[in-house]
Amino acid sequence: MPVFNFLKSKKIVGLDIGSFALKLVELKPKKKGKDTVFELISLGYEPVPYQSIVEGSIMDSTAVVDAIQHIFYESKSRTNQLSFGVSGSSVIVKRIEVQRLSPNEMHEHILWEARPHIPFTPEEVNIDYEVIESDDIHPERVGVILAAVKKEKLNDYLNIITISDKIAQVIDLESFAILNSVLENYEMYRQRSIAIINVGATITNVVISKNGHPVFVRDIAFGGNQFTDLIQKELNLKYEKAESVKKGRQVEGVSPAAVKPVINLIFNELKNEISKTFEFYRSNTTEGRIDNILISGGTANLETIVDFFSQEFDIPVEVVNPFNNIEINPKKFDLEFIKDMAPVFNVAMGLALRAVGDLK
Ligand SMILES: Nc1ncnc2c1ncn2[C@@H]1O[C@H](COP(=O)(O)OP(=O)(O)OP(=O)(O)O)[C@@H](O)[C@H]1O
Ligand SMILES: [Mg+2]
Repeated sequence: MPVFNFLKSKKIVGLDIGSFALKLVELKPKKKGKDTVFELISLGYEPVPYQSIVEGSIMDSTAVVDAIQHIFYESKSRTNQLSFGVSGSSVIVKRIEVQRLSPNEMHEHILWEARPHIPFTPEEVNIDYEVIESDDIHPERVGVILAAVKKEKLNDYLNIITISDKIAQVIDLESFAILNSVLENYEMYRQRSIAIINVGATITNVVISKNGHPVFVRDIAFGGNQFTDLIQKELNLKYEKAESVKKGRQVEGVSPAAVKPVINLIFNELKNEISKTFEFYRSNTTEGRIDNILISGGTANLETIVDFFSQEFDIPVEVVNPFNNIEINPKKFDLEFIKDMAPVFNVAMGLALRAVGDLK
C-alpha cells in the first residue's frame, strides 16, 4: 500500500494540440466563499513545425513529440497527465432528439438511437454525447449532441502522447472546451444565445449555445493558413514573410495597401462559410437567434476581424479573453504576453477547466 496517495491530488494540464502551435494551461481550483475560483499554475506555447500536423492528421510524429516534451519542460508543469481535444474531419458531431427516459435508461437509449446517425460501425468509433435541455424541444424529449471520433485518429494522438511520456486522462471535443472556457469567464453569457467562432490555422470551430448549453456545433475546414497561402501567392513571398505580413509587421518591399485586399478576400470566404453555418442552424431549430458573437483562436488577433464580422453579421462581436475570470500571479507570469496571446488559449483553457472539473 502506498504511503502517500499521490493520485488523489492528481494534477492535469489542458493541452491544445494545434497544427500551428501547442498551447498548455494548468489551473488550480480554490474555494472562495461558496464559489470555486481558478488560479493559473502553468502556461505554455510551443510552435509546431510547418505541416507536422495536416488537417488533424499527424504527419511528423517526431516533431510533435518534441514539441509536447518541450512545452511541458518550458512551462515547468510538474504533472505528466493531460486532457486534449479533438476536432475537424476525424469527428462527426450531430444533434438529435430522443425520447426522455429515466436517468438509468438514458445512456443505453442514446447510444442505440445514435447508431443510424453515425456513418461508421461501433467498432470504428468512440461515441460521446451531451444532453441538452432546451425549451425548443418537447418536454417528453431531450436534445442530444452526439460526437463520434474515429478510433484510428484518436489512436494516432494517444500514441504520440504515450511516446512523449505523458498520460491522456480526458478527451474532449474542442468545441465543448471553447464553450466551457467562455461560460467560466463570462457569467453573463450563461443566459444568452451566443456563437463562439474559434479560428485556428486550419480549422474554424463554430459552437452555438443557448442559456449555457451547446445547441449546435460545426467544424469548418478553413482558417488562418488560407490568409497566409494567398498572401504568399499574390505577393510572391516565402511562408515566413507572408506570416509576418499577415500579422501586420513591416516587411521590406511590401506595402500594407497591397495586403488589405488579399486579407479581405479571405475574410469574405470565411464569412460565407460562417453564414452557411448560421443558416443551417436557423433552419434546423425553431429559435435561431444569436445575441453575441465571440471570436477566439490565433486568427482572432487579425486587426480588422472584429470590425469585419460586426459589419457583416450586424451582431455585437467581441474577442474572447479566456483569462477574464482566472487569478494570475503577476510575479509568476508575463501579463503582457498573456494579454497579447489571450484568444489563442481558449481551447487549452477549456480543456484545463474540464480536467479540474472532472477531479472535483
Ligand atoms: N497576430 C496575429 N495576426 C494574425 N494571425 C495570427 C496572429 N497570431 C497568430 N495568427 C494565426 O493564427 C493561426 C494559429 O492559430 P491557433 O494557434 O489557434 O491554431 P491551431 O490551434 O494551432 O490550429 P488548428 O486548430 O487549426 O489546427 C495561424 O494561422 C497564425 O498565422
Ligand atoms: Mg486549434
